[in-house]
Amino acid sequence: MHDTGPVGNPSGITRIAVVGGGPGGLYFAALAARRHPDWHITVWERNAPDDTFGFGVVFSDETLESIEVGDAEIFTELAGRFVRWDDIDVHYRRTVDGPGSTTTSGGHKFAAVSRVGLLDLLHKRCGELGVRLRFETEAPPIGDLIADYDLVVAADGVHSASRQAFADVFEPTLDTRRCKYIWLGSDTAFDSFTFDVRPTPHGVVQLHGYPYDQGGSTVIVEMREEVWAGLGLTDGNAIERCAELFPDRLDGHRLHGNNSKWIAFTTVRCARWSHRNLVLIGDAAHTAHFSIGSGTKLAMQDAAALVEKLGEATDVATALADYETERRPVVLSTQRAAQASLEWFEDLGRYLDQEPAQFAFNLLTRSRRITYDNLRLRDPQYVSDVDSWFAGHEVARGATPGPPTVRPPMFQPYVLGGLELRNRVVVSAMDMYSSTDGLPGDFHLVHLGSKALGGAGLVMTEMVCVSPEGRITPGCTGLYDDAQTQAWQRITAFVHEQTGARIGVQLGHSGRKGSTRLMWDGIDDPLPEGNWPIAAPSPLPYKEGSQTPRELTRAELDAIREDFAASARRAREAGFDLLELHCAHGYLLSSFISPLTNHRTDHYGGSLDDRLRFPLEVLAAVKEEWSGPLSVRLSATDWHPDGLTPEESLQVARAFAAAGVDAVDISTGQVVSDEQPAYGRSFQTPYADRIRHDLAADFPHVTVIAVGAISSYDDVNSIILAGRADLCALGRTHLYDPQWTLHAAAEQDYPMEWPKPFAAGRRKPPTGRG
Ligand SMILES: Cc1cc2nc3c(=O)[nH]c(=O)nc-3n(C[C@H](O)[C@H](O)[C@H](O)COP(=O)(O)OP(=O)(O)OC[C@H]3O[C@@H](n4cnc5c(N)ncnc54)[C@H](O)[C@@H]3O)c2cc1C
Ligand SMILES: Cc1cc2nc3c(=O)[nH]c(=O)nc-3n(C[C@H](O)[C@H](O)[C@H](O)COP(=O)(O)O)c2cc1C
Repeated sequence: MHDTGPVGNPSGITRIAVVGGGPGGLYFAALAARRHPDWHITVWERNAPDDTFGFGVVFSDETLESIEVGDAEIFTELAGRFVRWDDIDVHYRRTVDGPGSTTTSGGHKFAAVSRVGLLDLLHKRCGELGVRLRFETEAPPIGDLIADYDLVVAADGVHSASRQAFADVFEPTLDTRRCKYIWLGSDTAFDSFTFDVRPTPHGVVQLHGYPYDQGGSTVIVEMREEVWAGLGLTDGNAIERCAELFPDRLDGHRLHGNNSKWIAFTTVRCARWSHRNLVLIGDAAHTAHFSIGSGTKLAMQDAAALVEKLGEATDVATALADYETERRPVVLSTQRAAQASLEWFEDLGRYLDQEPAQFAFNLLTRSRRITYDNLRLRDPQYVSDVDSWFAGHEVARGATPGPPTVRPPMFQPYVLGGLELRNRVVVSAMDMYSSTDGLPGDFHLVHLGSKALGGAGLVMTEMVCVSPEGRITPGCTGLYDDAQTQAWQRITAFVHEQTGARIGVQLGHSGRKGSTRLMWDGIDDPLPEGNWPIAAPSPLPYKEGSQTPRELTRAELDAIREDFAASARRAREAGFDLLELHCAHGYLLSSFISPLTNHRTDHYGGSLDDRLRFPLEVLAAVKEEWSGPLSVRLSATDWHPDGLTPEESLQVARAFAAAGVDAVDISTGQVVSDEQPAYGRSFQTPYADRIRHDLAADFPHVTVIAVGAISSYDDVNSIILAGRADLCALGRTHLYDPQWTLHAAAEQDYPMEWPKPFAAGRRKPPTGRG
C-alpha cells in the first residue's frame, strides 16, 4: 500500500459489514475508514472488548514495515508497546536425570505485543476513525448482510460460519492434525524465542514460548495425541501438569490460561475466497500453523491488500478478484512453510537421535524459510560453531576422512561404501536421448566430462539400459555389448584422468515405459513407427495411447536378471566407480514395487515382500558381478492415493539396505500417469529425511541421497547440516550450469581446487548469484 491518506472511491461502496473483530477484521476496518472517511463500516464482535483468547502476537521486520505504511498511527502506537529480542534458544533433551543442552542462535529480530494490547489499540483507532464496533453482539445472518451491504468482510476466524454458509462456493478443506496443543501464558518474560524439547516416558513434548510484554510470555505446549493421552492431560489439569513438565523453564513462575483448551491444529484451505460481495480474510480463509507465527500477520496483510484493491478497482467483484490474485501466492507459500514446520513438530520423535548442535540447526531450518546462509547473516558465530561441530562429527562417524577441517557442509568430503567423494554434490542421472544403438558418443563424453570438470563429487550417467528392449527410447545408451563397454570406458577414463570427480553408472530397464519417443518429440508417447514389444509385471499400459505390455513370464524374468548381471560386469570393465540400480520412476524394477503397477498373482506380486522379490533378485545377481559401491534409486511415493504408503516406502529402503546397498537415492513418482505430485522447492527431501532417520538405527552406514528441485548451494548446505541427507543430487541445475559446484565454492569464498586449465577463470563473480 503506497497511499495512506483518503482516496477516491471508484468502486462506489458506501456500506461495509465486517463479521469478527479479531486482528483481521479490525485492521481492515481501521485502514478502510482511514482511506475512505465516507464509508459506513460496522464490525460485529461476539466477545467483549477486553475478552481475548491467546496471549502474545509475534511480528517480523517485514510485517512491521507493511503496518508502518498502512497506518502510521497504528504503527507508532504498536512500536511503543513492543518487546523486542534477537535470540532463539533451543533447549533439548532435558530429563529428570540430566540438564540437557541449550543452543542459542542470534540476530532474529522479533517484536511481540500482547494480543489484548493489539486489539485494544485497534479498537481505539477504529473508534477515532468512526468505525461502528458492536461488541458482545452476534453478527446478523450472513444472507441479510449480503443483501443489505455493498461489501461483507468475513473475518470470523478459523471456525467461520460465513465460510461454512457458502461451503459449496468456497470449497473449504479442513485438515485437522495429529498433535494436541494449548495456548497458555506465563508471568515471566522469556529473554528469547524459546523452544524446549524433552522426552517423557510417553514420548516427546515441546514448549514454544516468547515474551509479549515486560512481565509475560506466551507458552504453547504441544505433543502427539498419543503422548498427550499417555500423560493423562485434560483441560482441567493442563496448567498444573504443563508446569510440572517444564519447571526449570518457568523458573518458579506460574502458568495461567485464558479459556485455554487442548486443541488439534486445523489447516484451513479454500478454493475461493469471495462470493458475490462476500470476502473471506484471515483465519476464515486460511490458517498457518502457529509454529511459524504467521496467523495474525496473514490476517493483517489480507486486510491491507483488500483495502488497497477496493481503492483501485471500479467495482467490488474486480477488487475481490484482484485481492485474491495478490494474496493467494503469498498465502500458499506461507502455508507450505507452515506445513513443513507442522509436520516437523509432529514427527519430532524421529530426530531425538541427533546431537544437540544438529538438532537445533534442524529445528531452525525446518520450514526451509530460514537457511544456512540466512542464519550465517544473522549470527556468523553460531553458524561457524555448527560447521565446526559438523566437521568433527562427520569424521567421528566415519563419513568424512580425518582430520576434521571446518568448511561449508557441502564441501565436507564423503566416503560412500569405500569410495571417497571430494564433496557432497552429485550430478543426478539425466537421460540425454542422444545415442545411436545404445552407444555413448562424443556428446556423452562432453556432457559428463564437463560436469566432472565442474566440481561435483559424483557424476551419474543417465539410465543405461541392460538390453535393446530395455531402452526407453531409440536414443538411450546401453551396456549390453562390447562396443558400448569400450565407449563408456573412454568416458570414465577422461573423468579419472582429468578431474577429481567420481563417476557412477545407473543401470535400468524401461519396462512398460519403453519404446517411446525422444523426450523432445513427446515424452512417454509410443514411437510413430518401429515400436518394439514391451513387457512389465502386469499388462497395464502406462497411459492412454501407450502400448499394453505383456506380462513377464518366469523365464523372461530370469533372462532380464541375467541382463542386469551382465551389464554390471561390463560396468566394472568400463571402470565405473559406483553402480546404481534404477528402481524408481515406473521403469521395470519400480513397477514391480508399486501396488499400482504390479497386479501379479504369483510370488512376484501381492504383498510388499513379494513385490520386492524380483528387484532384490536382480540386486543379488548384480552383486555377484559388482563388488564396488552400490546404490539404489527409489520412488518413495507414487503421489497416488492407492500407491505405495509412507510406511511401505520405509520398508522398501530397509529391504535394500538389508540386501547390502551402500546408498539409497530418494526420488518420487513418475510411476503412474495420473499421479498428483506436490512440487515445490526441495519437495522430495522430506522423503529422504524420513528414510535416513528410519535407517539410522539399523543401517547407520547407508548413505541417503536427496534429489529434486534442490538448486541453491544454500539449500545443499542446509540439507546436509540438518542431517536430512548425506549427499544432494542436482539435475536440471547442472544443465543450466555444468560448473555449478565450482561457482558455489567461489560464491562462498571456499578455496576449491579448480582444474588447472580453468584456474585463470577462478574468481568470485562481481555480483552474488541468487
Ligand atoms: C485459542 C486461540 C489462541 C490464539 N492465541 C494466539 C496468540 O497468543 N498469538 C498469536 O499470534 N496467535 C494466536 N492465535 C492465532 C491467531 O489468533 C489467528 O491466526 C489470528 O488471530 C487470525 O486473525 P483473524 O482476525 O482472522 O481471526 P480471529 O482472531 O480468530 O478473530 C475472529 C473473531 O471473530 C469473532 N466472531 C466469529 N464469528 C462471529 C460472529 N458470528 N459474530 C460476531 N463475532 C464473531 C470471534 O469472536 C473472533 O474474535 C490463537 C488462536 C486461537 C484459536
Ligand atoms: C532431462 C532429464 C533426464 C532425466 N533422466 C533420468 C534418468 O535417466 N534416470 C533417473 O533416475 N532420473 C532421471 N531424471 C530425473 C533426475 O535425475 C532428477 O531426479 C530430477 O530431474 C529432479 O532433480 P532436479 O530438480 O535437480 O532436476 C531426468 C531428469 C531430466 C531433467
